[in-house]
Amino acid sequence: MATRATSFRSAWARFRELDLESAELDARLILCAAADCSDLNFITDPDVELTEAQLKKFDHFVLRRSGREPVSRLLGEREFWGLTFGLGSATLDPRADTEVLVEAVLEQVGDRQAELNLLDLGTGSGCILIALLHELGNARGTGVDVSAEALRVAGLNATRHTVDDRAELQTGSWYQALPSSADGLFDVIVSNPPYITIEEMGHLSPEVAFFDPHTALVAGVDGLDAYRVIIEGARRYLSPNGFLALELGAGQFDAVRKLGAAAGLRVLGERNDLSGHKRVILLAV
Ligand SMILES: C[S@@+](CC[C@H](N)C(=O)[O-])C[C@H]1O[C@@H](n2cnc3c(N)ncnc32)[C@H](O)[C@@H]1O
Repeated sequence: MATRATSFRSAWARFRELDLESAELDARLILCAAADCSDLNFITDPDVELTEAQLKKFDHFVLRRSGREPVSRLLGEREFWGLTFGLGSATLDPRADTEVLVEAVLEQVGDRQAELNLLDLGTGSGCILIALLHELGNARGTGVDVSAEALRVAGLNATRHTVDDRAELQTGSWYQALPSSADGLFDVIVSNPPYITIEEMGHLSPEVAFFDPHTALVAGVDGLDAYRVIIEGARRYLSPNGFLALELGAGQFDAVRKLGAAAGLRVLGERNDLSGHKRVILLAV
């Protein structure tokens, strides 16, 4: 007999054996998703039996997680900025650290009622753009990505969070996706670009290396390829009082600051993540 409690315990034991970092949490999330119960249901009614269909689903999830597929990918969604985002094989699984970028933009903007034009380069699931549009009720935004499939998912997420009437999505490489009428248009350019070096790719956890799309991760030999293009083009597309907000990989602050200085951009601010790494840089003309 497989109950909620026995199923949870067997998955937890399996994930511990495999040395998964968040074995208990993963087992609980998988159980609740497969058995269609809330956390509270699980705690109050642990002895409810799983139906045959639920057990099949549960076993399938356990097998996939044992192959190091992240729980968010199994469930097809991830919480970011308190909103639920659908994921796909072409989208990065949004990271909690990226919320620091959203926070930094909002602090810099100040007035939540401002009529702003936002540009999110490498929008992926659309999490940054949609979180910002959700907070800035009079802003409009453009999300650019080289992956049409990622943009399809971003579109669904924009609709889900009812900002689709203020969000435009453009396929293409960085600024090349924009029309020439976009010169000087954007009050905020934001990006969490790929920033991993080719060498670092060899050291990523299986959850990242096998399940996040490589176009979302790798940016050349020094991890700075995407920053070079984004920083170089920023002056052309920023409005006179606009700013550029970039997420950084660990240890990249100085290199990115120098790229900014070479392009005539000054540092407007920086933010650390919860681990104390300089995670965000704000640049302006
Ligand atoms: C690190 S992911 C960030 C995704 C999302 N903004 C987030 O924070 O979760 C980088 C994104 O840049 C996109 N990308 C990579 N190269 C690109 C390019 N040349 N032009 C536009 N987007 C690109 C990837 O497809 C991916 O969606």
